[in-house]
Amino acid sequence: MVGKGGLEQKMSNHEQHETSHRPVQRKEMSRRQFLSYTLGGTTAFMMGGAVLPMVRFAVDPLLKKKGEGTFVKVVEESKITNEPQEFKFKIHQIDGWYESEPELVAWISKNENGEVFALSPICKHLGCTIAWNAKGQNEYDCPCHDARYTKDGKNLAVANTPLDEYEVNIDAGFVYLGAIKPNSRF
Ligand code: FES
Repeated sequence: MVGKGGLEQKMSNHEQHETSHRPVQRKEMSRRQFLSYTLGGTTAFMMGGAVLPMVRFAVDPLLKKKGEGTFVKVVEESKITNEPQEFKFKIHQIDGWYESEPELVAWISKNENGEVFALSPICKHLGCTIAWNAKGQNEYDCPCHDARYTKDGKNLAVANTPLDEYEVNIDAGFVYLGAIKPNSRF
């Protein structure tokens, strides 16, 4: 005779037995899904191959450094004196997709060793344009707030830093100017 407890035990074993023989339900990919994934992947790959060169072409000008290492012929070296003189010259500039030829100004002179150097005319206070000896004091003067600089560009009043200078290259009797950089004399 089987007691109530024994019957429950038997039923439970039976259920377990049935469960262990139930087929495992796997999530299988249908043919339609397989085709969708394959075609989708192939299309994405082909689109990437076609679009990436276009993106690179569009973005490329933005990644190029502007005029790095380029020098512009400005004046014969023989015209440079100890007294600073103003020279204007044009550079070819590419800013993203925009090309232009802005005119720049440099104050060029020789130092006590006869070496040519060229100063930027942009005042280091708030960006007005300085000029040599405008007040007859053998200094660079700024008309906006009276900043003053020595012939080497050292700041004497109002501005906190010296005038920037151009990179200079002398070749075959001509002065070439490059990028503007902080004044190396101070
Ligand atoms: S901008 Fe030159 S002194 Fe102010």
